[in-house]
Amino acid sequence: MLHSSDSLQNGADSKLPFAERSGKTGWECPSNIALVKYWGKHGQQLPMNPSLSFTLKESVTRTLVAYHYDGKRKQPKIHFSLEGDRKGEFLERITHYIGMLQSYLPWIQGVELTIESSNTFPHSSGIASSASAYGALALALVSLEEELTGIKWTQDTFFRKASYLARLGSGSACRSVYGGWTIWGKVQDLRGSSDTWAVPLPFAVHPLFQTLNDSVLILDEDAKTVSSSQGHRLMEGNLFSVERFRQASTHLQILLNLVSKDDWFAFIDWVEYEALCLHAMMLTSFPGYILLKPQSLEALQRIRRYRDQTRVPVGFTIDAGAAVHVLYPEKEAGKVRTELIQGQLAELCAGGRVIHDTLGSGPVKLIGHE
Ligand code: DP6
Repeated sequence: MLHSSDSLQNGADSKLPFAERSGKTGWECPSNIALVKYWGKHGQQLPMNPSLSFTLKESVTRTLVAYHYDGKRKQPKIHFSLEGDRKGEFLERITHYIGMLQSYLPWIQGVELTIESSNTFPHSSGIASSASAYGALALALVSLEEELTGIKWTQDTFFRKASYLARLGSGSACRSVYGGWTIWGKVQDLRGSSDTWAVPLPFAVHPLFQTLNDSVLILDEDAKTVSSSQGHRLMEGNLFSVERFRQASTHLQILLNLVSKDDWFAFIDWVEYEALCLHAMMLTSFPGYILLKPQSLEALQRIRRYRDQTRVPVGFTIDAGAAVHVLYPEKEAGKVRTELIQGQLAELCAGGRVIHDTLGSGPVKLIGHE
């Protein structure tokens, strides 16, 4: 819970100005995969429905932030590189993002930041790099706030603030600052849940869902024809949107119940249905659009056929793209990877590419870890 004494808005400004100082901080933050999808937003990156995800392990962004504060600067000065490359488009986005954070990080106007980021996974692979990137940056900024101001946030407030700030960069990023299962959005009867930050699932899931694997089939390497931001916007005119937002809340309740039970087949039926409903929203937006490719559809059929024939617990989810995420419990990894992924799905992938990931335990501080 947030206490009035540690408001996200003005916690740090009472101690301004500070002495001139320099240093470096850094975080590694994973991406996440949603099983109940955030699709449609309002206001300042507020979701139209709650979403449920789990955080990945291997697909991470590492962000190092070197800072210099002199107290004289009136605007932040930002340098940015991705994989060692100074990318102008990203610099513009990051500068705009950091500019937005002033009311939450009042000291930000006085800093010069050199931000170096790198990802362990390729761009356009079907893994959300904006989730891990804004997660890592937001965590680094909250660490930087502690170093500069001397404030020591409680652990809960630290991550809540990072989640809040990450959300302002990319909605799904707010779920990435925690390990395991995460909920973003106000859910009735779930204390602490909020539209403005994500929270970890407040109960332990069944062991079946504690070690979930997510193998991402890279079915198309081209950039998406409709970005997530455009997709969210198109929900505003979608004839089915009100029902969809209600449906997503229902799916969330159903899945919260199912992840505490030993019933893979019921679980995966709802997960797949939810993913197909996301794509139904794309078909029924105006203008309608299709992000799935013929090979994505073929992959979905093969996954279902394999499950029906073998009763091996496996299934899929799909994000806003052509990639298919193959989900299965860790104990089935040998069988699923050999028989299904290598045996039937890899041939559908661009260059046979599949990224194997699993549920992970969350971000790690890289520098200044006590
Ligand atoms: C389909 O978080 O990428 O992956 O807030 O505009 O940055 P912005 O959108 P983004 O949308 C993610 C949509 C999704 C579902 C999800 O992750 O919940």
